[in-house]
Amino acid sequence: MKRVMIIFGVVCTLGISISVYAKDNADGMESMMKHHHMSQHHQMMHMMKTDSDNRTSLQLPEEMKGQQLAMMREHLEAVNNIIADISTGKFEAASKIAHQKLGLTPEMKKMCNMFGNDDFRTLGLAFHKSADHLGDVLKTGNMKRSLSALHSTMNSCVQCHATFRQ
Ligand code: HEC
Repeated sequence: MKRVMIIFGVVCTLGISISVYAKDNADGMESMMKHHHMSQHHQMMHMMKTDSDNRTSLQLPEEMKGQQLAMMREHLEAVNNIIADISTGKFEAASKIAHQKLGLTPEMKKMCNMFGNDDFRTLGLAFHKSADHLGDVLKTGNMKRSLSALHSTMNSCVQCHATFRQ
């Protein structure tokens, strides 16, 4: 009987150690998996970062940066106001904004020439011309054509942002 108890005790202890060992191993695997996921995640973030930095830098001097971004925020506001005016049928007002705030005014022409990059200038001038076209289309009061022209103009925003950074 005593012997049976001892054997039973040994078997139990062995069983517990085996299960503890197995659990430790499982935890180890889990943390390894987690670590693996993390490093994949890091790799992806790294790829995304290098991808989005493929844009050409305009090497803007510090004192021009704030001014350029302020101009951009005005462009965004102009588009927003144009959409608001279209939605309430104020095509005349929308047309005015397109010509005055986004069109190829002498001021915009000067701005586009200031960056010292030919491709940037070409994109910028095409953008302002498309905004003048948008202004003309808005004047007709045709909703569908106006939205299509607005889309063309916004393609310029998207294209330039994909190509250049400050
Ligand atoms: C010819 C090039 C060009 C065109 C066209 C252009 N942008 Fe930009 N925009 C830039 C550059 C360059 C930056 C700086 C991006 C950077 O450094 O990451 C910028 C930045 C911006 C920003 C960020 C402003 C901030 O304060 O951070 C906004 C908003 C913006 N543009 C809106 C527009 C909108 C809306 C249009 C079209 C209606 C437009 N842009 C057209 C070149 C352009």
